[in-house]
Amino acid sequence: MTITELTALLALGSIALFVIGLKRLSRVRTARSGNALMAGGMLLAVLITLLEIGLVDYRWIIAGLLIGGGIGVAIVLRAQATQMPEIVARFNGFGGAASALVALSLFWLAVVEVPRELTTVDALGGTAAVTLVLSVLIGTATLSGSILAELKLRGTLSKDPRVPLRTAVMGVLVLVGLGAGLFAMFTIADTGVAALVVIGVVVASLLVGIVLVLPIGGADMPVVISLLNSLSGLAAAATGFALSNQLLIIAGTIVGAAGLILTQIMCVAMNRSLVNVIAGSFGEAGDVEHGEYGHVVSADAESAAMVLEAAGSVIIVPGYGLAAARAQNAAYDLARALIDRGTQVRFAIHPVAGRMPGHMNVVLAEAEVPYELLFEMSEINPEFSQTDVAIVVGANDVVNPAANDTPGSPIAGMPILEVENARRVFVIKRSLSPGYAGIKNALFEREHTVMLFGDAKEMLTELAGEVTQAR
Ligand code: TAP
Repeated sequence: MTITELTALLALGSIALFVIGLKRLSRVRTARSGNALMAGGMLLAVLITLLEIGLVDYRWIIAGLLIGGGIGVAIVLRAQATQMPEIVARFNGFGGAASALVALSLFWLAVVEVPRELTTVDALGGTAAVTLVLSVLIGTATLSGSILAELKLRGTLSKDPRVPLRTAVMGVLVLVGLGAGLFAMFTIADTGVAALVVIGVVVASLLVGIVLVLPIGGADMPVVISLLNSLSGLAAAATGFALSNQLLIIAGTIVGAAGLILTQIMCVAMNRSLVNVIAGSFGEAGDVEHGEYGHVVSADAESAAMVLEAAGSVIIVPGYGLAAARAQNAAYDLARALIDRGTQVRFAIHPVAGRMPGHMNVVLAEAEVPYELLFEMSEINPEFSQTDVAIVVGANDVVNPAANDTPGSPIAGMPILEVENARRVFVIKRSLSPGYAGIKNALFEREHTVMLFGDAKEMLTELAGEVTQAR
């Protein structure tokens, strides 16, 4: 078997690992092994590439692996679970930057090595030249867009300023970047001029990312993050075309398609269209009630525990505050204490609860809450009306009835967990302050709602203690 045949066979294996891994990611139960399979596929892809390029100076590769790997490990080790969306944004940016840098170096090599009378297209071929420009454009725009998204998610940048004539500005920037890139490919074999044009392409692409993300904010950020994820995949696929590397094309296309599907799923979960999200119109919907609260009933853990002890069925609704308080173990402790008393306990998962897709699944898996106890929104919503107590833990927007009954609300039309249908609702949070969307929640004023003010972890621990003692 020749090296070419061997690498083709291994490439097939690597692609199979990606596809099977991706399929397994779609279920919580199989996601862990799916992730491992895809990591294996990526390792195989790296080995194949090394085999294909043959004799190279491995010192550069080892240095790159150590520096890149070190940065990756350092970022993840320092990260809190609540910072995951920012980290995902940063890694999207790294992916885009890596594709753009590979494309830029390829372009530069061609410019330097091509004899003066030839163009870069003569050296690389038409497809490679065009995809190379696309890779720089998409990759660099992904980088600047992702940096901006990270700053917004961290709260460093709290404004979502409008950009006048935004669509036209973006159109012009894309045309300038594309035009300058193609001009360089088809005409220039002079390193000085090429350097200037390349700088122009990079600046135009950076501005595209900034103009794209600048006015978007609020609850639309997760959609933007997965869109940027998809773009980083497309940049990688374009680089794959430029390098004639099938594996990179396939891996990039898979990331691009997966990111787009996730974007679509989230748009549906928030009842928004992608065009509407990109237009940056979150929170512009008209008259929104930010007002004061009327009659709000609150209680302490002891009296709430007495109600729980009498309950036959309980649904726990986790939200961002549960993750922020790292209260997942305490939530499971309370669930177990109730189950031990014979109470039926379920967890209701809203697709955009928290700050990233699957956030609640991740934190509850960390506490080893069994999958059988987790229910998706469509399954659990009809169950609330037959449930004695719904315990909302650090969730706000995803249980806000304004989504159903206030047409002008920024979250109008977003599907919610219909906790108010339960016979009694407990809401654990520290104050009456709003959630991510920044709006009032009339659930807190309902007659059958009781606020349990306090940190989620402390309150759940107290409740679990009270319920256990009462046995
Ligand atoms: P939010 O509406 O953001 O509400 C979270 C609540 O948690 C806050 O009202 C806060 O109230 C409470 N909280 C914070 N720290 C707490 C602590 N230590 N203990 C107890 N409570 C605490 O959360 P949600 O209901 O999960 O909704 C998610 C929102 O984020 C949606 O608007 C969604 O669109 C958006 N979003 C989602 C994602 C994804 S993909 N999941 C990404 C970005 C944005 P207090 O301050 O009074 O305690």
